This record gives sequence, C-alpha cells and structure tokens, in this order.
Amino acid sequence: RKPVSLPRLQEMRERGEKIAMLTAYDATFAAVADAAGVDCLLVGDSLGMVCQGRPSTVGVTLEEMCYHTECVVRGVRRVQGTVWVIGDLPFGSYQTSREEAMRSAAALMQAGAHMVKLEGGGWTVETVRFLVERGIPVCAHLGLTPQTVHALGGYRVQGRSEAEAERLRRQALELQDAGATMLVLEMVPATLAADITRQLPRCHTIGIGSGNGTAGQVLVMHDMLGIHLGRTPRFVRNFMEGAASVRDAIAAYVAAVKDGSFPDNTLHAW
Ligand code: KIV
Ligand code: NA
Repeated sequence: RKPVSLPRLQEMRERGEKIAMLTAYDATFAAVADAAGVDCLLVGDSLGMVCQGRPSTVGVTLEEMCYHTECVVRGVRRVQGTVWVIGDLPFGSYQTSREEAMRSAAALMQAGAHMVKLEGGGWTVETVRFLVERGIPVCAHLGLTPQTVHALGGYRVQGRSEAEAERLRRQALELQDAGATMLVLEMVPATLAADITRQLPRCHTIGIGSGNGTAGQVLVMHDMLGIHLGRTPRFVRNFMEGAASVRDAIAAYVAAVKDGSFPDNTLHAW
C-alpha cells in the first residue's frame, strides 16, 4: 500500500472511495489497524473515556495526547507505516489564542501526528487558517463536539432545526475556505451530513453517527470491537461478531465502509 497523504485522500475522494478511519491510542492496536487496511487513525481525546475512565474528554491534557500520539506512531512505523495519523487537540490547548493553538499543534506534530484536529466552528476559522498557513494540516469537527458537552446539554444530535442546519452548513464552508482538509461530522442528520459533503470538494467529511453520505467514517475502536465501560452509542456496529480476530474485525469494518454497507440507515443517532 502507498502511504496515505493529503494528495492521496483527495484522489480517493475524486474516485468516490470512502475513507476508513478508527481511533487508536496505543502501538499494538495501531499496528493491527494499519495491517487491516485502515486509511487514517485518530488519536482521539476519547482516550480520556476509553483509556482513563473519565466521564468526558474535558480532563485530557496536551501532554497525555502527545504521549498517546507517540505510542500510536511507533506502532504504525513498526509495521507498514501507511496510515495517516491525526492528533486531537485537547480542551484548553487551542481556545485562548492562535499562538497557543500553534504551540499545541506543534507539540502534536513533533509527537508524530500528520494532522491535528480541533472542535467547533465560527471562532475556530481564524485558528484553522493560522495553522494551515504555517504548514499544519487541520481536521475540523462540527455537530456534537464532546469537549463542549456541558454547554450543549448532553450527548445529543445536532443540526436538527433548519436554523441549526444552516449554521452548520455555513461553518463547514468557512472551515474549508480557511484550509481545513478534513471535517468530522458527529451526530448530525444524514441528509445534512450529505449536503455538507457535496458542498466541500476539498475538505473530506468523516461521519460518526451521521449516516453514510459522508466521504468517510470513523468509530472509536473499542466501540466497534464490542468492549466498553458504559453504554455504546446507538450508531455503533460490533464488528467482532462473526470475526475470528481483532484484525479480521477491523478489516470487516474497512470493507463495510468502502462498500457503503456501514453505516446502514438503521445505524444513526437521531
Ligand atoms: O476523540 C475522538 O475519538 C473523536 C472521534 C470520535 C471523532 O473525536
Ligand atoms: Na475527540
């Protein structure tokens, strides 16, 4: 396999090949996911819940994100090294100023990430432009943004009303214009996610609980392996069912994303 890069992701997009992404937090799972054909690995701040047992992602620090990014990158380099690695900027590491965001993003890039992700729209536009101008690929994140779960009032579907949907469409366009080349859409209605995807030819939408009209999909790896501390979200499929190994389960996920059979229209959040 050729290493995944921004030009390759753009080629995949133009061919209509879906992007298969999973989260990873450690070297061994990252290596297995790479070998199973995943295109992108997100070192998500969901590690706060999955690895650290926290109630939300709010408590995760930049230092912790760098540590897990280093672990994932080592795992990827030990095997094929073809995966595109995205590091999540944690809560409080990019909100104060563009300069703070740059310092935090640099730390994640130095830990081995190829791209950084940050949550929110509107105010994030100038931060995204600042990072992209300085050579850092950026993934944005709209819809349910877990770092602001308390302000949002819980883990619930976003963009249901026409006014909210219009705001998300506008914010998505602004983020593409600012240079974001990827956009996670979490828990938004499928029709809205598909609309936004058509609006953004140069910014690849990655859906989670947002239907299958996006350019790619992401799941928390532990969720799709059927292991969890509390509730699993409704939109998750357990790919360990019928799989002989973790590697087979991940390969089945990749195949289902690529052929469009995951998610089907029963696996949504709204
Ligand atoms: O932290 C995370 O795992 C995420 C994805 C679920 C998109 O942000
Ligand atoms: Na995250």
